[in-house]
Amino acid sequence: MKDILNEVEGRREAARTGGGQARIDAQHEKGKLTARERVELLLDAGSFEEFDMFKAHRCTEFGMEKNRPAGDGVVTGWGTINGRLVYVFSQDFTVLGGSVSETHAQKICKIMDMALQNGAPVIGLNDSGGARIQEGVDSLAGYGDVFTRNIDASGVIPQISVIMGPCAGGAVYSPAMTDFIFMVKDTSYMFVTGPDVVKTVTNEVVTAEELGGASAHTKKSGVADGAFENDVEALAEVRRLVDFLPLSNREVVPVRPFFDDPDRLEDSLETLIPDNPNQPYDMKELILKIADEGDFYEIQPDFAANILTGFIRLEGRTVGVVANQPMVLAGCLDIDSSRKGAKFVRFCDAFSIPILTLVDVPGFLPGSSQEYGGIIKHGAKLLFAYGEATVPKVTVITRKAYGGAYDVMASKHLRADFNYAWPSAEIAVMGAKGAVEILYRKELGDPDKIAARTADYEDRFANPFVAAERGFIDEVIEPRATRKRVARAFASLRTKQTQRPWRKHPTLPL
Ligand code: HXC
Repeated sequence: MKDILNEVEGRREAARTGGGQARIDAQHEKGKLTARERVELLLDAGSFEEFDMFKAHRCTEFGMEKNRPAGDGVVTGWGTINGRLVYVFSQDFTVLGGSVSETHAQKICKIMDMALQNGAPVIGLNDSGGARIQEGVDSLAGYGDVFTRNIDASGVIPQISVIMGPCAGGAVYSPAMTDFIFMVKDTSYMFVTGPDVVKTVTNEVVTAEELGGASAHTKKSGVADGAFENDVEALAEVRRLVDFLPLSNREVVPVRPFFDDPDRLEDSLETLIPDNPNQPYDMKELILKIADEGDFYEIQPDFAANILTGFIRLEGRTVGVVANQPMVLAGCLDIDSSRKGAKFVRFCDAFSIPILTLVDVPGFLPGSSQEYGGIIKHGAKLLFAYGEATVPKVTVITRKAYGGAYDVMASKHLRADFNYAWPSAEIAVMGAKGAVEILYRKELGDPDKIAARTADYEDRFANPFVAAERGFIDEVIEPRATRKRVARAFASLRTKQTQRPWRKHPTLPL
């Protein structure tokens, strides 16, 4: 037994060394951690249990039979994050560039199957040169098997991708189908076709970083949900995110101890809204003042900043927040913010995370670029997502709620459960100036008359009471009591149940 144990240890040691010390050093020199170092940081100390450490490929092309590293370029297994079960795969760039072979894909599929069966998130740490060139179609088939599992797992278990090196070609489509993509600044990139192909086909000269680096995907394309300075920060932030999420759609949101009085009043909120209705204010301040301990985990902070999305806790329970941000584009809805909001609302609904919506929206962003870009369909995504969501929905209108955007932002008409308004709320088809210019076009040459008409319109509509008279607003609340009112509303909705007619799935406005 001793000899056998020694052999096992020798094999383990070989597997742990991956592609050898020189390649590990090269990985470190690039500022990247190894696949195993990453797993150690992601999971609770000592909790990692590995699968398939000795699994090797079966390829005999291009002399590969002499190059069969144990583990085949990916470390897979399960462990815990703050005591809660997660499954993880971590591609090892030091082994054949982390390239995906038939067996590499089988290892990933095994933990995905177990995660689905046991109802726990899958976290993928991506660092790979893509399809293993020597294996040809076997590698592509392996990708296909992973894709199919991504689809099966969607809406059943949270799937999180962290891009920590190359991720190119069709390989991007596995992360693309997961719920969250995080990137590491300067060391990761994602693109369907790399700079060389781009140059050959289009003559455009662009670097990998410009084309698919963290900045490109967190600021321009919106493909990624967050960018972090280095591997350590990225993994710590994934741990923080997992704490907010249920492990599967069979669970309710996690409950954590909280030290913040749910009845806390915030007098400073009484002066959050500026006197001038055209002056912006920071909606994030309201989110932080509502949240337990001021803790807000923002998703996509650098993309479509005219809408804020992220997670807070109320009485220790996770709540998803969607909020217009008056500081950016006056909080207008546009293509990007509609897509961002819709994706987030659909994630929350799939995983039974209640949704708090904070509204200050002057309408949809006008312009030909918006119309040609399909704002009609993109705006409909957000509308559809809210209308479809059956989780508890609580809405607070702080200031403007104009036009179609009023309906879209979790209004009573989309079956929100609680619709509150601050006394400063203005709910109307449009603002006073625009309305008067249309209704009293013939009087536009007479400033006195127009001023009187404007004042009259404001008196009538620049308040929450017309909507409250109809029951579209349940209550006009004091700004300082917002946390208390919202927390009580969600507490009353913990047993909410709804019925929908059977259908295979809706035909989303895509
Ligand atoms: C086999 C690969 C590989 C691959 C890298 N390696 N990519 N082996 N298949 N796809 C190996 C290299 O031979 C090398 O082995 C080691 O990994 C490290 O690679 P380097 O090139 O030395 O590293 P670096 O300079 O950092 O460049 C990284 C890289 C480059 C940019 C990723 O390796 C590269 O361009 N690789 C090919 C990428 C690619 O075209 N993949 C296919 C994409 S299409 P040694 O032994 O020297 O250490 C795709 C389709 C998926 O993935 C389809 C899904 C449907």
